[in-house]
Amino acid sequence: MPRVRFRSPFDDVVIEVPEGTSLLEAAEQCGATVGHACGGVCACSTCHVWVKRGLESLSEQQDNEADRLDQAFDVRANSRLSCQSLVGAEDVDVEITQESLQAFLDENPVLRHRLEAEGKWPLKR
Ligand code: FES
Repeated sequence: MPRVRFRSPFDDVVIEVPEGTSLLEAAEQCGATVGHACGGVCACSTCHVWVKRGLESLSEQQDNEADRLDQAFDVRANSRLSCQSLVGAEDVDVEITQESLQAFLDENPVLRHRLEAEGKWPLKR
């Protein structure tokens, strides 16, 4: 099975998932801090990630995803919405965007408060 690796200042986790699993489903299964304000229905951009490896093996980007990504922050050539990106046969390395981290921490205030108390959030630039 392909492996998906998630990285951020708070994550470095790897999970094996069956082909056809979305990157968001993979993140939820391994506890990666990928936000998902709309619940994975392509109605926000909080699950925005940068795909560092394996981009071409993911499911093809559809028009609705491209339209949503137009509203995201810091969009790059390797940007995808994790809820719309299905894993193919190849391993994938993902970097979680700050936009997505912010959304995740908004959804998980206990963790956010702990990171704030430890001086780890907001991120220093
Ligand atoms: S979770 Fe909202 S677009 Fe992916």
